[in-house]
Amino acid sequence: MNRRLFLQWSGASTLFWAFPAVDATDPSGSNIELTAKPGKAKIVGRDFPATDIWGFDGQIPGTPIRITHGQALYATIKNALNVPTAVHWHGIRLPNAMDGVAGLTQPAIQPGESFHYQFTPPDSGTYWYHSHVNAYEQVGRGLSGPLIIEEKEPPVVDRDLVWMIDDWRLLDDASISNDFGAGHDLSHAGRIGNVPTVNGRFRDIVKVRTGERIRLRLINASNARNFALSFGELAPSVIAIDGQAVKPFQTKEPIVIGVAGRVDLMLDMSGDPGSIMPVVDSFYRETFDLTKFVYEETPLRSSALDSVIDLAPPELPEPDLSNAMAHEVTIAGGAMGGLRRAQFNGKWMSLREIARQGYVWAINDVVGNKLDMPPLIDTKMGQSIRLTLRNQTAFPHPMHLHGHHMKLLTIDGQPLPDPRWVDSPLLLPEQTMELAFVADNPGEWLFHCHALEHHAAGLGALVRIT
Ligand code: C2O
Ligand code: CU
Repeated sequence: MNRRLFLQWSGASTLFWAFPAVDATDPSGSNIELTAKPGKAKIVGRDFPATDIWGFDGQIPGTPIRITHGQALYATIKNALNVPTAVHWHGIRLPNAMDGVAGLTQPAIQPGESFHYQFTPPDSGTYWYHSHVNAYEQVGRGLSGPLIIEEKEPPVVDRDLVWMIDDWRLLDDASISNDFGAGHDLSHAGRIGNVPTVNGRFRDIVKVRTGERIRLRLINASNARNFALSFGELAPSVIAIDGQAVKPFQTKEPIVIGVAGRVDLMLDMSGDPGSIMPVVDSFYRETFDLTKFVYEETPLRSSALDSVIDLAPPELPEPDLSNAMAHEVTIAGGAMGGLRRAQFNGKWMSLREIARQGYVWAINDVVGNKLDMPPLIDTKMGQSIRLTLRNQTAFPHPMHLHGHHMKLLTIDGQPLPDPRWVDSPLLLPEQTMELAFVADNPGEWLFHCHALEHHAAGLGALVRIT
């Protein structure tokens, strides 16, 4: 097997909730049935054996879900794995009981059982769904899929493309390396793989036509790999981030898509017929071609469309900064982090002792090792919250808040000219971000690093809204 094909590794329930039966189904809703099960996928092409994966309907990515804004989603998830699972609908502001965090918002779905989710997404945009049980292994084996909430009147495009970007750690026989939760991954950058894929394929090509306008929805489903993508001579317009519309801006700078983040781009394919254009990642030291656009011989049109690309602005509750409750949230720990001691199960312990139990990260000096720990933030419904998030570690952390979107106000003290809404902001090493949101969704919500090994090693907390 040709190992050089692959990239080098960088750095080497007890409770029961009853739900109403689904007889009151909204007839315009979308009924979906997904089965979490083992499957086989040709990730690295014909020269390698197929890879055994776990996927929704046995596929990677899992079966795409597309509904229209305003439509209800009724999703029955069957578990045909031999381990418990649950599904989280990442980025959707939904009722707490539908959030899919096993042990917090529902019991895990046992093998052979199913669970019914139903909610009406309040916002259009690009989202995804994934397992939230032992996520570092289950997502790492492929349990994720795209969730697209289309605008009622979307901008006119020739194609609406979804790229679910992922990252696999494969052995020479293209099987998934079983070292989930390896100590080095927990304490360093997380599980960075050696086979980055687009829609489950390594080094694939995407056929396009000159003049074509493509809405490209990028979703980063990796355990821990961040991306910064360049599109050659094209200057894509960013139209949405983490599902929420932004005022479109064109850029030739690499577009950063942190773990769990989404970016919607508008691309006018202006290359010559017959030409080839690689999409290059440059987030880490080693750059590589993630995929390639291959132009067909016949152009679609001679000049680009010039219709409107703006999406309607997000309809999210505006935080009241003059009355906001301020919270300082400091992330510490990990390798080269300088954290000496932290609270573990309510007791101060040395990081060495804590590490012996498999945990290395802390938020405000508290290791997030359980789902029944005291909340980091405990607030009344409707309260505006201002978060100052400080990364005192040597690694980036994509920090995800469940059930809400946050307005990103400043980065390292610099106000953003156009504050944007995010649900998974990528906090770089030593960076500080200020964010604000209205705590308007009751329940207990996770706030955690989406580098899944970091979450597994303690980088998580709870936000309680009553
Ligand atoms: Cu994408 Cu806690 O999840
Ligand atoms: Cu992290």
